[in-house]
Amino acid sequence: MSNSREEEWSNSTLDLFLDLGIGSRPGLRARIEEGLRDAIREGRLRAGARLPATRALARDLNVSRGTVVQAYAQLAAEGWIAGRRGSATAVVFDGEQGGGRPSLREPGAVRWRFDLRPGRPDASSFPRAEWLRALRRALVLAPDDVLGYGSAQGQLALRNELAGYLARARGLRVRADSLLVSTGFTQSLGLIARALEASGAASVAMEEPSMPLHRAIVRSCGLRLRPLGVDAEGLRVRELERWPAVDAVVLTPNRQHPTGVTLSPRRRSRLLGWARAHGSIVVEDDYDGEFRYEGHPIGPLQSLDPASVVYAGTVSKTLAPGLRLGWLALPERLRQAVVREKERADWQSGALEQLALAELLRSGAYDRHIRRMRLRYRRRRDLLLDALRSALPGVELAGTAAGLNLLVRLRDATLEAEILAAASSAGIGLEGLVAGGYYERSGPAGIIVGYAAVPEHCFRVAAEALVTLLARFLGRARSASA
Ligand SMILES: Cc1ncc(COP(=O)(O)O)c(C=O)c1O
Repeated sequence: MSNSREEEWSNSTLDLFLDLGIGSRPGLRARIEEGLRDAIREGRLRAGARLPATRALARDLNVSRGTVVQAYAQLAAEGWIAGRRGSATAVVFDGEQGGGRPSLREPGAVRWRFDLRPGRPDASSFPRAEWLRALRRALVLAPDDVLGYGSAQGQLALRNELAGYLARARGLRVRADSLLVSTGFTQSLGLIARALEASGAASVAMEEPSMPLHRAIVRSCGLRLRPLGVDAEGLRVRELERWPAVDAVVLTPNRQHPTGVTLSPRRRSRLLGWARAHGSIVVEDDYDGEFRYEGHPIGPLQSLDPASVVYAGTVSKTLAPGLRLGWLALPERLRQAVVREKERADWQSGALEQLALAELLRSGAYDRHIRRMRLRYRRRRDLLLDALRSALPGVELAGTAAGLNLLVRLRDATLEAEILAAASSAGIGLEGLVAGGYYERSGPAGIIVGYAAVPEHCFRVAAEALVTLLARFLGRARSASA
């Protein structure tokens, strides 16, 4: 190293640790940016800290100087860092302790190296700029009374936009006055269960497997739970006949969670026939219907019988679960009871966020984001499927045609537990069918792999890490079919 280089090196002020993950070159600039954002958010780099000179950091990371210059420029544009002529680039945003700002992360929260848990979209792709624009516009245009107590059913502007969107993009038969804005499916389910219970209902049938939280919500509303099996055609509707007087059925017909099966046309008409004959309600949880990669889009149950079906949607997969926004399309006979429960729960969902979502829908930004993410998730799914199938030829996969996760079927719960333990030690977040409490009674084991949450730049590396891990256990054809 020449003297001047050495001097420049030692003058670079900081020995900087950046967690860039491992693996291939693509996305290096994004990884440098994200590494620096993380360091600032977590308070490892405080306001005022001087960053290494671009040339020095480039050498340190063995990347081109241009890559570092671009990463710095992007972070400066976002307001994290600033450089002045003649002086070093420094951190200007105070992430953690500095300035008395509290930490943004829960102490002790697990940070997965690769978060492959199901049900989580790619938060790093959240359309921050579009959301900010929509929120700003909503705030500027909103009359004062929007900031007061509004309708428990939700902002009319959002319900109007949603009615148009749901009819156009999801095939619903819906009007703004039959929609209710909730804080997501979790709340929606509680509202429906309480409304049903208040009107004299006693029992609700749910799929098995299904999310344990959803079953707990139904139970906590004083309703008896009737589990119904799922096979290659979806919910086993015939099992309804086993139970006396079921008042409602909650299901995920578009893509059964977590097996990924689509309810067959035969079962659809049978279920609706049963509902009409018994005066029962069908609750359709369309949690990720926007993401289908193969076959034709499937119309909602609601469009076949809006008088029997409650349709539930959410932004938790299309935008982010942290927004807490969802909606219900309600049959008239349930509308008032559910609105009353919403009033009792929290009066209304946040008005400004509702108006921002209305603006996102109106401007087309919501559709654009979904189309962009559908393409991205599809590429990830293809990559993951190729990697799994070529490394583990005997592996049995399910639920690969749509959604944000797939299922690796396993021989037994012991193997599932072994894989989950090894994944946890390797910093890979996964969920198991048995360990995750998806069964009310019992059922086959499996690992649910979510392929959406990992940021784009490290997805390939995450997929490789997963396949390597699974190969340790399934390399000798130890999947369910073995
Ligand atoms: C089956 C199912 N339904 C609904 C949801 C969405 O719930 P929420 O809208 O409350 O975030 C999820 C999220 O993981 C899910 O897995």
